[in-house]
Amino acid sequence: MVGSKLFLIFLLVIEYCGCANILYVIPFTSKSHYIMLRPIGLELARRGHNVTVITAFREADHPPNYHEVIVDDKEIWDVTGGKRPNVFTMVEISAEDFHDKILWGGGYGFTEVALNSTEVKKFLARDHKFDLVICEQFFQEALYILAHKYQAPLALVTTFGNCMRHNIVIRNPLQLATVTAEFLDLKEPESFVGRVRNWYFTVYEYLWWKYWFLPKNEELVKKYVPNLKEPVPSLFEMQRNASLILINSHFSFDPPTAYLPNVVEVGGLHLSRSDGHLPMDLQKILDDSKHGVVYVNFGSNVRSSELPLEKKNAFLNVFKQLKQTVLWKWEDENFENKPDNLVIRKWMPQKEILAHPNIKVFLSHGGLIGTQEAIFNGVPIIGIPIYADQYNNLLQAQDIGFGKILPYHDINESTLRHLVNDVINNDYYRNKAKEVSRRFKDRPLSALDTAMFWIEYVIRNRGAEFMKNPARDLNWFAYTMFDVYAFVFVCAAVVIYIVIKLISALLQFLGSNEDLGKKKKN
Ligand SMILES: *[C@@H]1O[C@H](CO)[C@@H](O)[C@H](O)[C@H]1NC(C)=O
Repeated sequence: MVGSKLFLIFLLVIEYCGCANILYVIPFTSKSHYIMLRPIGLELARRGHNVTVITAFREADHPPNYHEVIVDDKEIWDVTGGKRPNVFTMVEISAEDFHDKILWGGGYGFTEVALNSTEVKKFLARDHKFDLVICEQFFQEALYILAHKYQAPLALVTTFGNCMRHNIVIRNPLQLATVTAEFLDLKEPESFVGRVRNWYFTVYEYLWWKYWFLPKNEELVKKYVPNLKEPVPSLFEMQRNASLILINSHFSFDPPTAYLPNVVEVGGLHLSRSDGHLPMDLQKILDDSKHGVVYVNFGSNVRSSELPLEKKNAFLNVFKQLKQTVLWKWEDENFENKPDNLVIRKWMPQKEILAHPNIKVFLSHGGLIGTQEAIFNGVPIIGIPIYADQYNNLLQAQDIGFGKILPYHDINESTLRHLVNDVINNDYYRNKAKEVSRRFKDRPLSALDTAMFWIEYVIRNRGAEFMKNPARDLNWFAYTMFDVYAFVFVCAAVVIYIVIKLISALLQFLGSNEDLGKKKKN
């Protein structure tokens, strides 16, 4: 009796909150991606939705309406074949090489690992109904087909900012003069050379992506997701019809850009709700450092212990002369000649560390997640970019004024000492960091609540067809107005031609009259 009453209340609650069945597809096994993507699934579940997550990460403690379908845990190097390289060597790599050697192969490999995982195969073989499919947009387009399989609207989420691949497909303006490809490092993006480079890279990426990478993803669909309802849309079409794209940027830090209503900035989403706290030992170290703390962490993929000896020594020689405590994420247990003011840990609760008021500066590789954590907490950055979007994030921080870039090849004792002392002792950086922090948080809704609003909006409006750009259905010359400009050009050319002809005829006429007059006089 009590049970059935409870069940009735349960049904009422479901009715009341308009709870939906949501499939959340984030199988990419990179920890830094998961840090941003994790709160979306958990928060949807907390709000009462029935959430099924295809993921590589198991949550220790999750609500009962949060279901995990776990993919095989593989590292990118297992998938691309070969050994994990020393990540510091990737400083040299061009944006094109980064795509050729890592992203395309890694993306394809990960997508196949996900589709071929035991739990995923079992899940796909059963019958399910979903009201929305949310996929990460990161070189795993084959998974978009799940939205077609379940005949549900598709929402996308990216762990980085504005990018060509979503803009071009949903017909958001590309804005290449100010929006730099996310993995391209340009010293002066708005100069002529910078814009040519950006244009060239965008064309390169687009052609390879559309005509080589997407077809390879289509093969994965055929192989692993058979028996789809005909006609099966192409993956390009799937993305074109995405109802919503959540991107990890915010105009208070990233360059302001034009967005369609279904492209929504949710930068800093993982910082919206704080649930963590510092472990006791670190809390004490940070509290007791009365001169402040220098925090060093080159991210989850880069291992500090792979630093070449002369660079490691440069760091150590500078650090040991500081009166500040230095907290360094160092993955190796052995550390010879460790200075007294240096504290090493294999892993750092970064979000909580950066929130501590004694942090003076963050020495970082400039990954977006860490950069946003520094922004959120108003901490100045010294950035050593290694690969991917790191250079762009740091350039933005440097332009705004709360960060300094130290190119990897320039690391030596004197550059490092100069920069560290400058950033610690000059209030300019800290003030700028505080200013950006304040404006980063100054929003009508927190980033996470913004994401929730728009996801639920798309569910309420069954895909919100009306939000999508009608220009998606135009061909490229209608969309770019090329036909109209060509027409105007031809009309103008005809008019100019006629005017020239008339004038020359007139001149000829006048000339021959003059000749006639001259002849008469003679
Ligand atoms: C929630 O989703 C799971 C699939 O992961 C499904 O088996 C279950 O029936 C769903 N529950 C409700 C109440 O729809």
